[in-house]
Amino acid sequence: MDWGLRNRLARMFPEVSGNTVMLAVDHGYFMGPTRRLENPRATITPLAPYADALAVTRGVLRTSVAPGTTTPIVLRVSGGATILKEDLSHETITTSMDEALRLNASAVALSIFVGAAHEHESLTNLAQLVDDGESVGMPVMAITAVGKELEKRDARYLALACRVAAELGAHLVKTYYCDDFSKVVEGCPVPLVVAGGPKLDSDRAALELAHGAIAEGARGVDMGRNIWQSDHPVAMLKSLRAIVHDRATVDEAYRILEQERARVPPVGDRPVAA
Ligand code: 5RP
Repeated sequence: MDWGLRNRLARMFPEVSGNTVMLAVDHGYFMGPTRRLENPRATITPLAPYADALAVTRGVLRTSVAPGTTTPIVLRVSGGATILKEDLSHETITTSMDEALRLNASAVALSIFVGAAHEHESLTNLAQLVDDGESVGMPVMAITAVGKELEKRDARYLALACRVAAELGAHLVKTYYCDDFSKVVEGCPVPLVVAGGPKLDSDRAALELAHGAIAEGARGVDMGRNIWQSDHPVAMLKSLRAIVHDRATVDEAYRILEQERARVPPVGDRPVAA
């Protein structure tokens, strides 16, 4: 592996633990202005200093992330479908490798849709992106997307999807946590990070998810809604860092959250214009 590619990966997986806490703020590319990510700059600015990487599109990067940021950027480069259509798998590569280099990305990310209508295109997009990435030292993260079929998130399906991503050359894979997650880890020879999925019932449930994933071999989280839809997003990130980097228990991480809750007022929803 080239030094440049290894250097980019190392920046996202800091030496303190070799794991990563990525903040996912790329949802608008197919969901539009999601709750509490309506104004990307307002959501991202207070959180970025506590993240090991920011997962964004080029549009949000240019408009809503300070160019002086030192937080590595994972640039989403796939898109082309929205939640208004049934088939979310109809994606293509939307951002070139040259653009990723110009934007000083530390990695590029695309969704793959194993078993979906456009499985073939998403997998060949991945293979092409890996070829392009290898030629310039850019790591590629494959995201095992399930579109609207959230029930697909079981170990059998995710193990298959993650393995396919690794076989096609992805340098890291983002997937979902599930029962028997260790089987997914075992079959995937590149680092796995987990998404949070839709907001869970409580902040503690999101910490339990992260704790389970790390205990079973994930190398970090790439979480969005369970952080910035929380009433205490900075506290959530600090608690997740304790789990991912310091191997804190759920109780220990939750205490960090409670301390911050006692100190900092909750963030509210943005007022809806009259
Ligand atoms: C959007 C994504 C998200 O980045 C991913 O799902 C992580 O966010 P969340 O924790 O909210 O699920 O890939 O397409």
